[in-house]
Amino acid sequence: MELKGRAALVTGGSGSLGSAISRALAEAGCDVAVGYVGNRDGAAETVGAVEKAGRKACRVQVDQTQPAMIEPSVERVVRELGRLDILVNNAAWNIGVPFPDLDGLTTEIWDRMMATNVRGPFELARAAVPHMRAQGAGRIVNIASVSGLKPGGSSIAYASSKAALIHLTRCLALTLAPAITVNCVAPGLVEGTRMALRIPVEAADRVRREAVLQRGSDATDIASQVVTFCRADSVTGQVAVIDAGYFFH
Ligand SMILES: NC(=O)c1ccc[n+]([C@@H]2O[C@H](COP(=O)([O-])OP(=O)(O)OC[C@H]3O[C@@H](n4cnc5c(N)ncnc54)[C@H](OP(=O)(O)O)[C@@H]3O)[C@@H](O)[C@H]2O)c1
Repeated sequence: MELKGRAALVTGGSGSLGSAISRALAEAGCDVAVGYVGNRDGAAETVGAVEKAGRKACRVQVDQTQPAMIEPSVERVVRELGRLDILVNNAAWNIGVPFPDLDGLTTEIWDRMMATNVRGPFELARAAVPHMRAQGAGRIVNIASVSGLKPGGSSIAYASSKAALIHLTRCLALTLAPAITVNCVAPGLVEGTRMALRIPVEAADRVRREAVLQRGSDATDIASQVVTFCRADSVTGQVAVIDAGYFFH
């Protein structure tokens, strides 16, 4: 798919990785709607970066745990940018609960994790699909995590939510073909991001040591992979693991 003149919604565009993805899409020629919940300034910064790349941008507040907010937010993107071709489900929530602390993983934490990281992306996709179909093509890219493939990470709930997002990718790829492709990027520890900084230093160092490349992942590699999935016409249902070689060995 030629990306010049396309319109993308990047959820969590106020965050570290969402900002890198928004910038990469803008450089590839897309206008970008930057999703956020509370970080207005972060979203404004990303909007500024997209505009600096010569593309249109807008800020869209959407709390994806709130089903009633989803359709109106997608409609707003279409009003502001004139169309919607690409959805990047990048927003997520996490909190550290050590795996053995089963009691610490409360029902509230579990439900918020699943609502944010799985149900939200599904509902956003459902709201975006009619606009993509009307244009004859569309791209959905979900940002999961290597912890959805290899048990580990900040909590059992987070790892399970990312495993579900990976499977949702495959289910939607099957359902939305041939007009819309659905793919997934599964990052490892991404250097320099807020999420990575929330992990205890020793845990982050262990991940780096276990990675074949002896380092964390690069946000720009993840953003480039999102752009590659959006350009590709013959790739769907795939998971690209970008983790400096942490998972495969
Ligand atoms: N960083 C890593 O090491 C790493 C590793 C593997 C996977 N990932 C995945 O990469 C993606 C981006 O992570 P990041 O590191 O950029 O995280 P981040 O900087 O913490 O950003 C998270 C984003 O999600 C948004 N968000 C949180 N709850 C939301 C909700 N209920 N509705 C809508 N948006 C919500 C936040 O919005 P506000 O800030 O505006 O509130 C923020 O923009 C996530 O899917 C994460 O799981 C990250």
